Amino acid sequence: MPLPKAELHLHIEGTLEPELAFALAERNGVPLPYADTEELRKAYLFDDLQSFLDLYYGLMAVLRTEADFEDLADAYLARAAAQGVRHAEIFFDPQAHTARGIPFATVVEGLGRALDRSEERHGVSTRLIMCFLRDQSAESAMATLEAAKPHLDRIIGVGLDSAEVGHPPSKFAAVYEAAGVLGLRKVAHAGEEGPAAYVREALDVLGVERIDHGLRCVEDPELVERLVRDRVPLTLCPLSNVRLRAVDILEQHPLPRMMAAGLLCTINSDDPAYFGGYVDDTFHAVHEALGIGPEGLRELARNSFEAAFLDGGPEEEALRARYLAEVAAYEFD
Ligand code: ADE
Ligand code: ZN
Repeated sequence: MPLPKAELHLHIEGTLEPELAFALAERNGVPLPYADTEELRKAYLFDDLQSFLDLYYGLMAVLRTEADFEDLADAYLARAAAQGVRHAEIFFDPQAHTARGIPFATVVEGLGRALDRSEERHGVSTRLIMCFLRDQSAESAMATLEAAKPHLDRIIGVGLDSAEVGHPPSKFAAVYEAAGVLGLRKVAHAGEEGPAAYVREALDVLGVERIDHGLRCVEDPELVERLVRDRVPLTLCPLSNVRLRAVDILEQHPLPRMMAAGLLCTINSDDPAYFGGYVDDTFHAVHEALGIGPEGLRELARNSFEAAFLDGGPEEEALRARYLAEVAAYEFD
């Protein structure tokens, strides 16, 4: 049985496995520029974030109907459950779909159908976070927030993703302020490829509660001190960092140093269909490559539930307590 954990940094579109992509392409009559799944997998050799994003957005062409989004999310939840995930806070990229003429409602209702059944079918509690694409305009982000308004019963928060460098958090100050007024939680990708200054901006200008990635905070000791003091969770994604060349090899990932510094680290899978592993695979990989032992792994799992947005009243706090008790009682073999 895998270690119980929460997954807090997972793009649902990044769980589109080649087999499902081809099945949906056939179902929807969408041509793909790859002969088969093997040829598609061979294209998963990335130089950086942008080279990944080009393929990632391209393959989304197969996602067209509510049933497609439902099937995508259901497949992820089944895999997540098998990897010990008990709670998942799932990102989606509405603009990547509305720009292709797919209505916001199709995306969110399709995902929602799978999420509604998740506890019963997979034993995984779920939340949905919509991300703004930072390489699109601030106006487009605001229009996306407007489009989300009829669906806010399904969405707990906003995030910021896509090509980071040149698109600082401050570009999205107004839309984050508006999201806050609507009672939405706030997270943002920062310090993946962009500098530590973007992590500061995400905190100071956007008011985020968690930083997605945050890897490059290690370049700024004062920032590290602040993140430790304020217990700001970081949703790190070590396998993603290797595949997108933020670090050369997993053995050089700063995770052990970051944990030793007292940062509230979590590990997550980001876009597991593309990066060679789901979240329990990531736990195994950091154990093997970085020598993080059972108590370090338990700390990462505990942090994942402490950083989860499970603070909306006694019922959610009870759920968090139950998950934390499962982590404490877990016996490694
Ligand atoms: N969208 C999907 N995965 C991403 C990542 N790792 N960074 C930024 N945007 C993304
Ligand atoms: Zn991400």
